[in-house]
Amino acid sequence: MIEVKNVEKSFNGNKILKGISTVFETGKTNLIIGQSGSGKTVLLKSLLGIHTPETGQICFDGRVYSDLEADEKRELRTEIGMVFQGSALFDSMTVAENVAFPLRMFTKDNTAKIKERVDFVLDRVALVKAHNKLPSEISGGMQKRVAIARAIVNNPKYLFCDEPNSGLDPNTAILIDNLIKEITEEYNITTVINTHDMNSVMEIGEKILFLKDGLKAWEGTKEEIFRTDNEAVVAFVYSSNLFKKVREAYLKE
Ligand SMILES: Nc1ncnc2c1ncn2[C@@H]1O[C@H](COP(=O)(O)OP(=O)(O)OP(=O)(O)O)[C@@H](O)[C@H]1O
Ligand SMILES: [Mg+2]
Repeated sequence: MIEVKNVEKSFNGNKILKGISTVFETGKTNLIIGQSGSGKTVLLKSLLGIHTPETGQICFDGRVYSDLEADEKRELRTEIGMVFQGSALFDSMTVAENVAFPLRMFTKDNTAKIKERVDFVLDRVALVKAHNKLPSEISGGMQKRVAIARAIVNNPKYLFCDEPNSGLDPNTAILIDNLIKEITEEYNITTVINTHDMNSVMEIGEKILFLKDGLKAWEGTKEEIFRTDNEAVVAFVYSSNLFKKVREAYLKE
């Protein structure tokens, strides 16, 4: 469980996160939604320790990040897997080398053990014949799978994904969402996903935090998002006619 308490973050005197408090639950896919520029990536990077909030606390299963010693912070960092916006694979490394990278960085595992683990996670994301390919030789959906495999190779307790299905066709996007949800449940990971995508909300929105201009405008589950009359949520989520119709049908049931 990650507890976020009153987190504020500014750049050049410009407040981007304006006092965010929430809880991201273990074994669940927690989504952060909101318009472009609302602060989703800044919040995720604050969880990751890339940004340091001026105010507030981020607490990882009882460990307050800002109170940790440098070596404890390093240790915590090894418990986090990250899928960055875009897949951010190393272009000159093969798929298998990309996935092995965190193990080479953070563990003392020998080559045989690394190979076994890389084979296991690539198999888990259903990529069996791609080991020796370069990222440029595989599709966007396969690249996302590689990024997910790399993020989970070190058995993380926490998994952060920034727009993991952007740029994919709707079917592939849903496959990727469901893969992340399955892995989250299977390994009991605290997963936080940034998304614009209402399909993701409907598929895997077990907990949804809605940001608007750096403030928490709403939070709840995908069932609750249908029923809310919060104006900001309705304006954001139901700007599409399709979702307006889905909501009307749901509320009639
Ligand atoms: N390193 C930085 N320095 C200065 N300003 C920043 C920095 N990072 C983000 N910002 C600003 O913070 C605001 C929120 O950006 P952020 O990237 O979190 O938005 P987002 O919700 O992730 O948007 P998108 O959906 O487009 O990815 C933006 O106005 C952005 O310009
Ligand atoms: Mg972003």
